[in-house]
Amino acid sequence: MVARSHDDDWDLASSVGATATMVAAGRAMATKDPRGLISDPFAEPLVRAVGVDFFIKMMDGEIDFDGIENATPARLQAMTDGMAVRTKYFDDYLTDATGTGVRQVVILASGLDSRAYRLPWPAGTVVYEIDQPQVIEFKTSTLAGIGAEPIAARRTIPIDLRADWPTALRGAGLDTAAPTAWLAEGLLIYLPAEAQDRLFDNITALSAPGSTIATEFVPGIIDFDADRVREMSSSFRDHGVDIDMASLVYAGERNHVVDYLRNTGWHAEGVTRTELFERNGIDPPAPERDDPLGEIIFISGRLTG
Ligand SMILES: C[S@@+](CC[C@H](N)C(=O)[O-])C[C@H]1O[C@@H](n2cnc3c(N)ncnc32)[C@H](O)[C@@H]1O
Repeated sequence: MVARSHDDDWDLASSVGATATMVAAGRAMATKDPRGLISDPFAEPLVRAVGVDFFIKMMDGEIDFDGIENATPARLQAMTDGMAVRTKYFDDYLTDATGTGVRQVVILASGLDSRAYRLPWPAGTVVYEIDQPQVIEFKTSTLAGIGAEPIAARRTIPIDLRADWPTALRGAGLDTAAPTAWLAEGLLIYLPAEAQDRLFDNITALSAPGSTIATEFVPGIIDFDADRVREMSSSFRDHGVDIDMASLVYAGERNHVVDYLRNTGWHAEGVTRTELFERNGIDPPAPERDDPLGEIIFISGRLTG
């Protein structure tokens, strides 16, 4: 397994890119769930197009759990439910933001996020998506290939978030005098502590009053148990999936996002994933079935200026 480096890159079947396919597979399964918490009809065709056999079997209910250590139907259901409550939280956040009149949205690390194609955007909304070039290109061409059309005006910025993305975003048309709704979903654990702070500093510098932000903080990243995570992801590797979470994430001390945002002018609130499960009438997973990183705090905030 190749360790992270400051300028590594990837497609959707490898390294950090494969995590985008994994979470999209979770959305595809949550979309099929009769409880109907979310609907992402593009997740399944996107994951099929990436072509990682394990994720396709997962969506098709064809995983042979007997052959995979550490994997059980209950763990898979916990992962699917986790993706359902996460997706709904951020869908609602964006719908609420446009409900208050915000007409430009920036999705950082957009991966296989299809919100530009599936949320009920008001006329005149522009959705900017930032991710690595291979990731952006794959999603754009795959969705065009199945005849999908964005509902919002979609503008893509194929750039690494460790490069000068604010300049690229302004160059693509972001109006820094108007409020922006920002989304950083499933991103922070893949950034070093200092890059996380810089990300929020950049966002704050680009945000007019009335801007909103949503992201999630994973406290377990601080005292991260690499051995347990490596053991739990071994089943993926045994089945040809290039995901070793232990080598993809940046563990150790980092600022708590709610504190950091509050200290830089945002009114930010966090809600635990356990609370989201309860709000949505879903039983939270037992700890042994849960994500090895444990609890997640979902955060949203507003800049009042
Ligand atoms: C777990 S996926 C989440 C994707 C999407 N936000 C979602 O929730 O479906 C992580 C994403 O972060 C992107 N990413 C991580 N580090 C990045 C970086 N330095 N520059 C650009 N994209 C990055 C990956 O390419 C991948 O698409």
